[in-house]
Amino acid sequence: MVTSVSWWEGAVVYQLIPRSYSDGDGDGIGDLKGLSGRLSYLRWLGVDAIWLTPIYPSPLQDGGYDITDFKNIHPELGDLAAFHRFLTSAHAQGIKVILDLVLNHTSHLHPWFQRARWAPKGSPERDVYVWSDDPNRYAEAPILFRNFETSNWEWDEVAGQYYLHRFLRHQPDLNYENPWVQEQMLGVVDFWLQKGVDGFRLDAVPFLFEAEESRCEGLEQTHDFLRKVRTFVDNSGKDVLLLAEAIQPVEEAAPYLAEDELHAAFNFELTAQLFAGVASGNSKNLGLCLNKAQEVAPGSCWALPLRNHDELWLGDGHLVPEEVIQSIRAGLHQGNGHWLNWGINRRLAPLLNGDPRANRLLHALIYSLPGMPCIYYGDELGMGDWPGLRDRDPNRTPMAWTPGRNGGFSTAPDPLLVLPPITAPGYDYRVVNVEVQKHLPGSLLNWHRRMLTCRRLLPALQAGGFEILDSGHPSVLVFVRYIKNMTVLVAANLSAAGASFHLDLSRWEGASTREVLWGCYYPEANEKWFVYLSSYGFNWWLIGEVEETK
Ligand code: GLC
Repeated sequence: MVTSVSWWEGAVVYQLIPRSYSDGDGDGIGDLKGLSGRLSYLRWLGVDAIWLTPIYPSPLQDGGYDITDFKNIHPELGDLAAFHRFLTSAHAQGIKVILDLVLNHTSHLHPWFQRARWAPKGSPERDVYVWSDDPNRYAEAPILFRNFETSNWEWDEVAGQYYLHRFLRHQPDLNYENPWVQEQMLGVVDFWLQKGVDGFRLDAVPFLFEAEESRCEGLEQTHDFLRKVRTFVDNSGKDVLLLAEAIQPVEEAAPYLAEDELHAAFNFELTAQLFAGVASGNSKNLGLCLNKAQEVAPGSCWALPLRNHDELWLGDGHLVPEEVIQSIRAGLHQGNGHWLNWGINRRLAPLLNGDPRANRLLHALIYSLPGMPCIYYGDELGMGDWPGLRDRDPNRTPMAWTPGRNGGFSTAPDPLLVLPPITAPGYDYRVVNVEVQKHLPGSLLNWHRRMLTCRRLLPALQAGGFEILDSGHPSVLVFVRYIKNMTVLVAANLSAAGASFHLDLSRWEGASTREVLWGCYYPEANEKWFVYLSSYGFNWWLIGEVEETK
């Protein structure tokens, strides 16, 4: 039964890489058994849903986004029975589960692709992928993985043709012009719906269809197919989230949020502006981006990540000025800010020069702005990374649970570990881990938990209206979130210097103001309400008393 309020309204999502989260069988690789054992931690932290990066069989040439069987589990992670046990136990603890669904491509080792290359040219089997005799077809489609590929086409000796791959050459693009492909992928959606999952993060949605003289992104046919997915899910009667990954500016991502299309889309432009804001100490572009996001998709749900398993996208030189990008890279704590395909492949903490105040500030913003906050595993601890690792592995290393062996991630000997746990100075797992931080009242981890608790108690932050107020200070973003009986005022200082300013709160003249986190009263609202925020400081205040709803 579809309820009137969907489960994701007001939800906080936690993204994790199962292979790097917790190893339940001691082979050095995180798995579903290990993850099941950590659900109580996630419940304690206060997240509503977890998004798992791909868990399907895969040769792992692209972190599992190269799939050989969409309806199974990678043997290193478990099997379908283990998935069932994990899902049942997540649901029993009130945690929803979102799977990554890769629609655009498969692994080159997928049986469909192997069959296609051996099948005669023009046959239905060959037609499952996109082939060409000419590698200049769709010449305007940009190369996405610029660090690894020089063409979107790869010559296949057996087929005697080129095949299209918008990502790695190990990831041939499926041919969505072929109704069989569409039917199969809807079958995949159905398979996991029947298993009881609560949502899908739809990977790389802009690239499903191609057309000459276009960038082959977000074409009308692509939107048509996504509407089919939506109708399919709606017809199942299940309350299932469809979340789009389109690494594009707000205007280009907004069409996926049309009423009959997907429920949510990541706002990567906002992510870029949050980092740029902190790097430049200026809140102007952040404010503009926030207003634009509300205008282009009013009432829609933007998902708000700070970091994820990919690079930090800063907008291809159009969104964030070059000097700000350079200052983010220069400010990196340890190692250099390695530029991969389209961004920086580092974790949040080192990107913020190891400053926990900036970690708090950026999370306080995503926890209070309109949209669905997305926490990347380990960022609740301020976990570090390993800059020297290949591709995007620097920010995919094992979760730090304890000060013990391998940070409590696995009991396996070091050489067997999926990736090395962090021992870099300042981020060593013997110091930065769940167990230690749980015991320290002032830790980042306890702060996140407290913030999530407060957020849960403030429905205005979950689904309220949004309006930016003028702070008169270049570094400070101020806004209100409101519902009928509750108004929350938020102020955030993006600068490393303290900021004092006055706010015009005359429309709430005489109302009480109370700081939320510690319950401290401030002077009554007036026309010239004085605020001081320390370096990277922020505050949430309730304006007026919360009226009981009858
Ligand atoms: C998405 C994923 C990324 C992957 C790519 C190709 O952008 O987030 O990790 O490499 O799609 O599937």
